[in-house]
Amino acid sequence: MAYIEFNDVIKTYKMGEIEINALNGCSFSIEKGELVVILGASGAGKTTILNILGGMDSSSSGKVIVDEHEISHYNENELTDYRRFDIGFVFQFYNLMQNLTAKENVELAEQISRKPLDAATVLKMVGLKDRMDNFPSQLSGGEQQRVAIARAVAKNPKLLLCDEPTGALDYNTGKQVLKVLQDMSFKEGMTVVIVTHNTALTAMANKIIHVRSGRVENIEINEKPEDAEGIRY
Ligand SMILES: Nc1ncnc2c1ncn2[C@@H]1O[C@H](COP(=O)(O)OP(=O)(O)OP(=O)(O)O)[C@@H](O)[C@H]1O
Ligand SMILES: [Mg+2]
Repeated sequence: MAYIEFNDVIKTYKMGEIEINALNGCSFSIEKGELVVILGASGAGKTTILNILGGMDSSSSGKVIVDEHEISHYNENELTDYRRFDIGFVFQFYNLMQNLTAKENVELAEQISRKPLDAATVLKMVGLKDRMDNFPSQLSGGEQQRVAIARAVAKNPKLLLCDEPTGALDYNTGKQVLKVLQDMSFKEGMTVVIVTHNTALTAMANKIIHVRSGRVENIEINEKPEDAEGIRY
C-alpha cells in the first residue's frame, strides 16, 4: 500500500437544485517523501483534492488513506486531530499574524503540535536566520511566504499541502519559495504536495498528477527532477 491513496473519490457539491461533481472518480497514490505537483486548469478540482487530503472537506464517496489510516472514515473529532497534528498547510496568501514576529508566528505551531520542531532551526532552513525578529510588514512577499512554510513545517506534519504557493509572488521570488519546498522534500524527507496551474512546475517534482474535470487524466513520473531554481516559466 502506498503512503497516500486516493481511490475513486467523488465529491458532489449541492447548490439548491443543482449538483456539481467537483471530483468525478479521482484516483492516485503518493509515496512517503515524494514531491508531487497536482496540475490542472481552473475548476479542474485541485483545491477540492487538497482540502479532502487535508481533512478540511470530506469526500462524497471513495476511499482516502494516509499512513495506513482511512481518513475518509474519520468523524469530526478525528478530522480535527488530523488537521492539527498531521497536516501543514501553505496557502497563496500567507495568513501570518501581523502583530507577531516571524519567530513568534512559527512558534504558534508549537502550541498545536505534539512534536514540534524548533522555530529558529526551521527559520534557518528557509533562509530567514537574520529576519526572525521582523514583523510580517517588514518582510517581502517571498519572505512572508517562507515564514508561512516554516510555520507549517514546524508542526512536523506527515504531509505538507500547498495551494498555489507562488500565486501572489513575482517570478524570482516564486522560484526561491519553490526551492524551499523542494528542499523540504529532497533534503528533509517531507512529503510535499503542490497544487498549481503553472505547467513549468512539473520539471521540479518527482510525480505530476494531471487533473481535468474532476478526474486524473495522466500521472507522470520524473526520474530526474530539476533544481527548482533552474526552472523557467
Ligand atoms: N464549496 C463549493 N460549493 C460548490 N461548488 C464548489 C465548491 N468548491 C468547489 N466547487 C466547484 O467544484 C469545481 C472544482 O473546484 P476547485 O476549487 O477544486 O478547482 P481548482 O482546480 O482548485 O480551480 P482554481 O485553479 O480556479 O483554484 C468547480 O466547478 C467549483 O466551482
Ligand atoms: Mg483552487
